[in-house]
Amino acid sequence: MSDYDVIIIGSGPGGYVAAIRCAQLGLKTACVEGRETLGGTCLNVGCIPSKALLHASHMLHEAEHNFAEMGLKGKSPSVDWPQMLKYKQSTIDTNTKGIEFLFKKNKIDWIKGWATIPEAGKVKVGDDVHNAKNIIIASGSEPAQLKGVEVDEKIVVSSTGALELGKVPKKLVVIGAGVIGLELGSVYARLGSEVTVIEYLDHITPGMDSEVSRQFQKMLTKQGLEFIMGAAVQQTEATKSKAKVTYKLRSDDSEHTLDADVVLLATGRRPFVDGLGLDALDITMTDRGQIAVNDQWETSVKGIYAIGDVIEGPMLAHKAEDEGMAAAEQIAGKHGHVNYSVIPGVIYTHPEVANVGETEETLKKAGRAYKVGKFSFMGNARAKANFSGDGFVKLLADKETDRILGCHIIGPSAGDLIHEVCVAMEFGASAQDLAMTCHAHPTYSEAVREAALACGDGAIHM
Ligand code: NAI
Repeated sequence: MSDYDVIIIGSGPGGYVAAIRCAQLGLKTACVEGRETLGGTCLNVGCIPSKALLHASHMLHEAEHNFAEMGLKGKSPSVDWPQMLKYKQSTIDTNTKGIEFLFKKNKIDWIKGWATIPEAGKVKVGDDVHNAKNIIIASGSEPAQLKGVEVDEKIVVSSTGALELGKVPKKLVVIGAGVIGLELGSVYARLGSEVTVIEYLDHITPGMDSEVSRQFQKMLTKQGLEFIMGAAVQQTEATKSKAKVTYKLRSDDSEHTLDADVVLLATGRRPFVDGLGLDALDITMTDRGQIAVNDQWETSVKGIYAIGDVIEGPMLAHKAEDEGMAAAEQIAGKHGHVNYSVIPGVIYTHPEVANVGETEETLKKAGRAYKVGKFSFMGNARAKANFSGDGFVKLLADKETDRILGCHIIGPSAGDLIHEVCVAMEFGASAQDLAMTCHAHPTYSEAVREAALACGDGAIHM
């Protein structure tokens, strides 16, 4: 039994960042993690491994489609799947070991095992009960289930199973055209699978600016992904090596089936709070099964905080990290802050898709007057040279004040480009501020500036 100022439950991006900040602020800190390695879903079976596979499969796509035109001759590489999985694992290992190093450096104790909170101020792991003046719950999320679909992680898989399939499937059916379905769907499409995505709504990526969403679907279709829209999956039936997916079209209620070698269920995630003992503690939950917190990330029980996927808001690693730092600062007597209106979202396909702030749809709904500055990557010299002219930057600004309200990018390095707009928004900048900032030539960033120019007197290269 030990005494701590703070015990954090979960070592994902929310938990480990909270732990480091607590330690930096002079608090005696421990982090409980039941997995064999630190880093949570993101590092072990989420963001990081999927990015390794996205990178490798993108390289293959480049070799197959663009090398010859650049004068790079030779046979296209073939896929050595076991080696690709090894590369993916080595990426995971360097990152998880990196966190272990940071824990040691900051003198954070890693308590190995699964935690329960028997009462406020106490955390039980195995037979040991530790005292903690403050507890931060950062236990993350797990794939949501779908009635009629039983995940066995071999034939019918969640994102976890999809990251370590025995082989590249000939036919992959993806249920859900959200971030996970499209990222992993495009990995396997590039590696040679026939990919069919079944989506309940009539558009992909719910919540995204609809112009970007339409363009994105067109591009993915061009890359070989097939979409069945407005279709609700009813059930899957799996044998040892195949599965049958049954879905109903919402337009006419007709029932259809599809055969697949692998089915990926990607219809969302839900907070993971199993085994924490929250019922006995009488912690208030929202009607969506999230832990309710106040604006200082404190739950209804004093001294118990919650951050990341277990609370309200987008289930994003960087949102959890920001909350982790802010909660740590609150506990240390400082003023932690998260600006929820400037949280970027990125889909790491090729091209990437990124967004921040308002969409045209949310602005219309709120009855706000806005202007749109748009610039196509076709007018960007660097993008054209790199076979990346498809896509655009769309900047939304207040019609009266010119203040930037949102930005939506589909195109090369969108996930990096979005951040200059995030910084601009944090500083309350106008589109003109961005337009007057000198941008190096030739860079993709010039497309962001051109979109800002298009909010005023006009883009130059359009
Ligand atoms: P999602 O919520 O993004 O998308 C799920 C999709 O499934 C929706 O389009 C929904 O309409 C559809 N759907 C639901 N029921 C269906 C049914 N019966 N038949 C057909 N379609 C159905 O969920 P996803 O992709 O599983 O991601 C989960 C969470 O993980 C999200 O919050 C996401 O933001 C996060 N994530 C973020 C990443 C990133 O930032 N790059 C990467 C991976 C995950």
